[in-house]
Amino acid sequence: MKVLLIGSGGREHALAWKIKQSPLCDQLICAPGNAGMEEIADCAPVKADNISGLLGLVTDEAIDFVVVGPEQPLALGIVDALHAKGIAVFGPTELAAQLESSKVFTKDFCIRHDIPTAKYEVFTDIDEAKAFLSEMHPPFVLKADGLAAGKGVVIPETRTEAEKELEEFFSGKFGDAGKCVLIEEFMRGHEISFFAISDGQTLLPLIEAQDHKRAFDGDKGPNTGGMGAYSPVPGFSEADRDAIIDKILDPTVHGMAREGMPFCGVLFAGLMMTDEGPKLIEYNARLGDPECQVLMRRLDSDLLAILVAAAKGELDKVDPPQWHDDPVVNVVLAANGYPGSYEKGTVIKGVDAANLETGVQVFHAGTSRSNQGELLAMGGRVLNITAQGKSVEQAVSRAYKVINEQIDWPNGFCRTDIAYQALK
Ligand code: AMP
Ligand code: GLY
Repeated sequence: MKVLLIGSGGREHALAWKIKQSPLCDQLICAPGNAGMEEIADCAPVKADNISGLLGLVTDEAIDFVVVGPEQPLALGIVDALHAKGIAVFGPTELAAQLESSKVFTKDFCIRHDIPTAKYEVFTDIDEAKAFLSEMHPPFVLKADGLAAGKGVVIPETRTEAEKELEEFFSGKFGDAGKCVLIEEFMRGHEISFFAISDGQTLLPLIEAQDHKRAFDGDKGPNTGGMGAYSPVPGFSEADRDAIIDKILDPTVHGMAREGMPFCGVLFAGLMMTDEGPKLIEYNARLGDPECQVLMRRLDSDLLAILVAAAKGELDKVDPPQWHDDPVVNVVLAANGYPGSYEKGTVIKGVDAANLETGVQVFHAGTSRSNQGELLAMGGRVLNITAQGKSVEQAVSRAYKVINEQIDWPNGFCRTDIAYQALK
């Protein structure tokens, strides 16, 4: 079949790499893709949020099956538009994607279906929001309602700081998303991400991963889209997995179906493992970036076959996916300045040599080729160095060896402590 993959990040390069290995895939087109995806697929210069452009591409190229990587096209209703054209697609409808696009929707949904999550209140009035702070204990968890590129959450330690943040939210720091604010109870525990696929009725659990949201070593600095990830997560037990499935994921799939918005796609649960069991921090309606990259390197089964079955509502006929046990880490190389402003167009060398190292696979994110064939950094997060090993130590040392010895990019930086919790 002819497959269109929407997106251009490290997540999509990893998906493209895996989809290309499927015997079901005759041709893969990526829109818009990046310099790494260009090496293994055809790329069309249509951006992921250009819905009419993407629909035109599907018609012109006679696409059989569409896979949506990022959240923006989902929230803009790409899946509904493709359904209307009779095109098979893996991803949730606009209504179902509210599990990611609206935090208020998800919190209210959790209450309706008895899914464990932090207690919360929603405010559209700044004075009421400020007054509510007196009923909460610090640290205060403040969240913008809509999509804010992973940056719409702040956790001030003091009431004065929290009031100042609320003023910034309501004066448009996150656009309209920040004018509806959730104030949540602060949950203690350790965080984990767990992934599953649903076809609307059946849940196919995948595996767990750990990401690193802060920009700098020691979990310091601003929040980012993610600076690295690893899987498996040591200490994550079968009992943890079962509790997440029974208390959170299964009720979500059944609840969404009962409410008339069956969820077909990836359920990416951000979880706090507390003394009272797992609690939902948030849902995303797509794979994580950089978590997807480590998942794809651990997956032995045919990804495309699973996605096609999900789109057809036939996940009950699919065997449980098979995974390598060998640990995989992903270290993100980002442009100096990220997540703030950064330079574009700087030259990167050494990626081909890096890919020859044992256990290493580099996935591109914000890259493109110059007319002279040089690899250029064009985004904030630029490369993902994934490495597999017999142990976490070996995987980590393989990734950093490549970064220190092969990759030549003076304008980039990475965290030097990815997987530190697993190494402890
Ligand atoms: P979110 O975008 O909702 O995943 O939140 C971003 C980060 O804020 C999470 O990864 C957690 O580290 C933290 N966080 C969010 N909500 C809470 C909460 N209720 N209690 C403690 N930490 C939280
Ligand atoms: N790494 C977190 C995300 O993809 O949202």
